[in-house]
Amino acid sequence: MNKTIDLFYDEAKALRQSIHQEPEIAFEEVKTNQKIRAFLDKHQIPYVSGIAKTGILATIEGKLPGKTILLRADMDALPMDENPNNPYASKIPGRMHACGHDGHTAGLCLAGAVLNQMKQELKGTVKLLFQPAEEAIGGAEPMIKAGVLEGVDMAFGAHLWGSSPGGRVYLKKGPMMASPDNFIIKVKGVGGHGSKPHVAVDPILIASQIVIALQTIVSRQISPLEPLVISVGKMHGGTAPNIIPEEVVLEGTIRTLNNVVRADVPIKMEKLVKGIAESYGGQAEFTYLPAYPVLVNDNEVTDIAYRAAGRFLNPEQLAFLDQPDMGGEDFAYIAQAVPSTFMYVGIMEDQPISHHHPDFHFEDKHLKVLSELMVQCVLEANR
Ligand code: NI
Repeated sequence: MNKTIDLFYDEAKALRQSIHQEPEIAFEEVKTNQKIRAFLDKHQIPYVSGIAKTGILATIEGKLPGKTILLRADMDALPMDENPNNPYASKIPGRMHACGHDGHTAGLCLAGAVLNQMKQELKGTVKLLFQPAEEAIGGAEPMIKAGVLEGVDMAFGAHLWGSSPGGRVYLKKGPMMASPDNFIIKVKGVGGHGSKPHVAVDPILIASQIVIALQTIVSRQISPLEPLVISVGKMHGGTAPNIIPEEVVLEGTIRTLNNVVRADVPIKMEKLVKGIAESYGGQAEFTYLPAYPVLVNDNEVTDIAYRAAGRFLNPEQLAFLDQPDMGGEDFAYIAQAVPSTFMYVGIMEDQPISHHHPDFHFEDKHLKVLSELMVQCVLEANR
């Protein structure tokens, strides 16, 4: 492990704990932004703040010529309560860093401090991207539109990962995370008395048929070799046991790992949904809400990350993942624009740690692996 990491570790740890205690959700990361700026100011790292509201882009210019490498961290928390027995638990009700983004932010600050310290012998330029709103809406896309990738040769991002053993790094070539698109289905029937269904059109029955039939797209219309998830997560309709309502609303998510399948699924869904509703004498509206693209890692940049991780980890602490994950990640926009790779840094001690859970917690020491990985990626890319 790089000795300079130890020099700045306590400062990064304090930053992580402070951000953890005052979590802020998408595009509200105002105090988080201030804490990052205070860290950058102390280390005399220049930056531009206020990109996509709360985002920051810091720049470290090496003295020697080389590539421009972007390192990305997300800053946002989640709208949920933290278990108050967790170490340095959230002080803000209904707000929690339950995904580790506090660690991503503090870890990137630590990597920045180390790279800044070695500026005299550093090749190329390093950009530190602190991005808002990964969990909701997405902060990567507006930051890209604001020009943060101009002149960038390649990008690295990482996520602390609760189902991977602590101290290990996992990489993947090609598709790594799914596009997390959403949909809304409004089923319209004809309301009436629950005792006289024959003079009404029951949207609850139609919606129930639709929920079941949607799984036939997964099992019968898309190749079994293509990963696809369609989940209905919300089903709303009705006010009383003896009233057939006018309308039922379904909401759900679609996960795909292939852009061709991604484009095809909503078309098939709309056809099926409308056909079922009409066959029962009702109507349906289908709204597709596209979110982040599929996260596809570049092969060469992933090889660079593999060599970089191998500089400080033993071979058994480093592996390629066999499978992608059906979760989404808006680093996908960055990976679509410049050659990139996204990495998992394990935080598991004995038992897997569930992200987005009130008990989510990881040990501060894992910041060191995350930071060292980022530092080594920059050095390796310019070797
Ligand atoms: Ni996350």
